[in-house]
Amino acid sequence: MLDLNKIGEINLPALDPHDALPGSHALLYTDWTVTEPQFDPEQLCARETVFTIGNGYLGTRGSFEEGFPQALPTTLIHGVYDDVPVIYTELANCPDWLSLMISVNGERFRLDRGEILHYERQLDLRHGLLSRSVRWRSPTGKTLDLEFQRFASLDDQHVLGLRCQITPIDCSGTLAEPFPWKIEVQSSLNGYPDTQGFDHWEQIDRGQIEQGTGQGVWLQVRTRSSHIELSMAVKLAVMGADASFQVTNAHGYSTLMSAFSAIAGQTISIEKVVTVFTSQDVEMPVQAAQDKLANLPAYGVLLDAHRQAWDAVWQHSDIEIEGDRTAQLVVRYNLFQLLISGSSHDVRVSIPAKTLSGLGYRGHIFWDTEIFILPFFTLTQPAIARSLLTYRYHTLEGARRKATHSGYQGAMFSWESAATGDEVTPRSSMPTDPYAEAVRIWCRDREIHLSADIAYAVWHYWQATGDDHWLRDYGAEIILDTAMFWMSRLEWHAQQERYELCGVIGADEYHEQVNNNAFTNRMVQWHLETAVAVYEWLQHAFPYQATALAKQLQLTAEHRLLWQTMIAKLYIPHDAKTGLIEQFEGFFQLQDIDLSKYEPRDRSMQAVLGIDETNQRQVLKQPDVLMLLYLMRDTQALPAHDNVLQKNWDYYAPRTDSTYGSSLTPAIHASLAANLGDAADAYKQFMQAALTDLKDNRGNTRDGIHGASAGGVWQAVVFGFGGIQLKDSAPIATPHLPPSWTRLKFKLNWRGTWHSFDLVPSPAQKPFSACRSSCN
Ligand code: BGC
Repeated sequence: MLDLNKIGEINLPALDPHDALPGSHALLYTDWTVTEPQFDPEQLCARETVFTIGNGYLGTRGSFEEGFPQALPTTLIHGVYDDVPVIYTELANCPDWLSLMISVNGERFRLDRGEILHYERQLDLRHGLLSRSVRWRSPTGKTLDLEFQRFASLDDQHVLGLRCQITPIDCSGTLAEPFPWKIEVQSSLNGYPDTQGFDHWEQIDRGQIEQGTGQGVWLQVRTRSSHIELSMAVKLAVMGADASFQVTNAHGYSTLMSAFSAIAGQTISIEKVVTVFTSQDVEMPVQAAQDKLANLPAYGVLLDAHRQAWDAVWQHSDIEIEGDRTAQLVVRYNLFQLLISGSSHDVRVSIPAKTLSGLGYRGHIFWDTEIFILPFFTLTQPAIARSLLTYRYHTLEGARRKATHSGYQGAMFSWESAATGDEVTPRSSMPTDPYAEAVRIWCRDREIHLSADIAYAVWHYWQATGDDHWLRDYGAEIILDTAMFWMSRLEWHAQQERYELCGVIGADEYHEQVNNNAFTNRMVQWHLETAVAVYEWLQHAFPYQATALAKQLQLTAEHRLLWQTMIAKLYIPHDAKTGLIEQFEGFFQLQDIDLSKYEPRDRSMQAVLGIDETNQRQVLKQPDVLMLLYLMRDTQALPAHDNVLQKNWDYYAPRTDSTYGSSLTPAIHASLAANLGDAADAYKQFMQAALTDLKDNRGNTRDGIHGASAGGVWQAVVFGFGGIQLKDSAPIATPHLPPSWTRLKFKLNWRGTWHSFDLVPSPAQKPFSACRSSCN
């Protein structure tokens, strides 16, 4: 059995009456582990997401090795996209490396049959290990203990390990079967994984590995449209019994079978080690997978190296919280999910909205990455941040095609992006009701703020790292060519003598066609200011590259002058006297709403009111003006007014559908509430964000981890409760710790130096408290 030190339960008071879903079972936790103490088939798919493991190259959901009806076993590899109707392209579910069928005297181990006498599944966040401990009685009464363990090596991204220890216990059934029992294990690579009903793979070849022992097989497959080749190789070792082996290499289903006898109390250990490569990594994946497998050390050695790699990662990325064990665990859980998603090895991939943990949003990449997830990497794992931003550089050609197609200059990043950067947001979503009309998705045409969001992330990466060479070779081109797009997109309104942006969708997607959205306009203004600054810096620091880039982008001195005029004359709707920013022109004229009148509810306001009605009301899906104020917290946002944040918070927070609108809201609201000194609200929002997937509080965790929310959780702790401001000289903390937190520790890398923060509350709970910050 697993040695579990149960110190608490994720069983918080419900955030509202609908927060605790019917049938949900509490998870148990320690500082570093999450444990599911019993199996509930109702939660099968959500918990598969929760127990995802990964290593920045791939993610594998927590599906059972032996399978279960309705399960969604999924392994996603960064960048392995393939064409699919309607939504253009999606991450293809890769061959399933987990499959392990165990039978005892011909009776197959499966949790939907027989009796579960004990069950415990545990994710060890510190070392990236998923384990499961089961005592199972077969329908005929044979009782077995099974201990599973798996990992995706962080030390070597192409290596996966799985172990199963089997111990026969007794035979108390009516059909008594004396020991020894004949146990058979089928360990497979399943080349027919299902991607929501679609089979992306062509079977190319399979074979046996000539190691003299006959204990290895390999599989070679290729995506149907994008022609990405993938190969996996597997070997099996059986310890504690005299085992025979056999290979059954059926088309697309490479299997190693092993059989042995066992008596009561005898523990047999089965170790499955898998290697995986694609043609995006190497020229000949089939050879690479076999070569790597042939040279691999034993399972235990691989496991040690994997653990050490995790130790090194947590050295920089961990957050320690004292006084609140729930917060400690849930923060680490969210950081774990980010760490297993970010690659520093492949600069042509980025993190999808649902990470690599599920097929929601089909593996497409949104602003979630740059605005919500990236700050964590920029300030704790800068190599990963650099790689993620370089993905945007490599997709500039797609962004240019989108701009040209839409009649603009420069580069216009796609709202949803995949391998090439071309727009892959579906045009409409198909309702399940056969008589309902398709719903047009306007984000692909109108939600244009993304180009400024990416520029924002590039600039902040440069500010944090001082990585001049990256800015010179990659970042400058991103910022300048997207500025060229804005130049052609802004409209001059002669009568009002101002530049405007009409027909857009802001961060709040409940309003689908608006003019002069404050968030978009101010971000664009900031973007143009930054473009001017970056070009001047380039001219000064690297004049040769500045001239070459200007020539390549056809960027002239007249253009830069025009940018200055646009900056000065770009309209941002606000009331200079009160400091209230109008979300877009005419927002204040819309019918107002009191969201409390709709409580209790279990759906978004758009689902309650319908799309058209929601468009006509002052209700927000997610922060828009507040998002702007959050992003511009270290800048002069607009207008220059004393209580601009408080003023706008008081107006917009009560009108935001924060529980059911967007999962991107709670973490940002938590940061802002902490900065405004409302500790209780900040903590409530923070917990809502941090438990998004652990409690499945939006009911869609089965589709994958909410990556933006996870990134927002880190930001809420560091920028909200830690009150970190990134000053030129160093990051400075002004902590606003939740009442129960007695200590908060984390590290930030600022311009190549690590800054350790060790924050405690002041006795009087004043906003500024004892802060010991040191550099190492
Ligand atoms: C949100 C977007 C977000 C997307 C992916 C949508 O529901 O409104 O802001 O980018 O989900 O997470």
